[in-house]
Amino acid sequence: MRTPLLAANWKMHKTVPDAVGFVTAFAPRVAAVTDADIVLAPPFTALAAVADACRNSRVAVAGQNLHWASQGAFTGEIGAGMLVDAGATHVILGHSERRQLFGEDDAVVARKTRAAIDAGLTPIVCVGETLDQREAGETLTVLGRQLEGSLAGVTPAEIAALVVAYEPVWAIGTGRTATPDQAQDAHAHIRRRLAEIGGDEAADRCRLLYGGSVKPANAEAIGGQTDVDGALVGGASLDPGSFAEIVDAARRAAL
Ligand code: PGA
Repeated sequence: MRTPLLAANWKMHKTVPDAVGFVTAFAPRVAAVTDADIVLAPPFTALAAVADACRNSRVAVAGQNLHWASQGAFTGEIGAGMLVDAGATHVILGHSERRQLFGEDDAVVARKTRAAIDAGLTPIVCVGETLDQREAGETLTVLGRQLEGSLAGVTPAEIAALVVAYEPVWAIGTGRTATPDQAQDAHAHIRRRLAEIGGDEAADRCRLLYGGSVKPANAEAIGGQTDVDGALVGGASLDPGSFAEIVDAARRAAL
């Protein structure tokens, strides 16, 4: 049985007061939730403040990226140990915005995944096809290639403990969501590929999140799919009421 995981990806949004204000409104709303894991990924500047604000709750905190080196001459970058120091337990890696806008490829994501695991962080490794790739019938090939490359060198036990987010690029921030069937097809394929890479047990335990225009209105239908174990939510996670509704919808879907 996989516990649902709902992760909020705030991207480049919220100052420290905005972020803490979110937690003040959100934490009581989910205080009684014991059947789902909840993670907030604020921008780096608000990480420590959000982690502090979440201290007496079950809400965990994630970085949105890291550098694979632990320290050094890498101006503008943040190491895994620094995320841990700020109170993070998770980190989003290989988001399509990182891949498309900042040139990250699977080899880079693999180095980051290794650094995260070695620092004790749970990676949320993102994969997903573009619209062109989907229309060319390449979705499953692309997902397989991204998984294999991004998880190169990761052991079966590590695969079991990490999180993979399927985020079709054409559904991110567009209001266009994958249908529940499209999400399930992609997730089932991802789980099969994970089984080939790390064995059946690791694949069965690894949590697979769907991401791309998840909202309170569609979270239950998508979350109800066999191989969907939660969601990575961008725009609709910026408002505490909306994200709390998504948490509730995902919990209903898991019943
Ligand atoms: P969205 O973003 O929910 O705004 O589509 C999801 C993501 O990019 O993680």
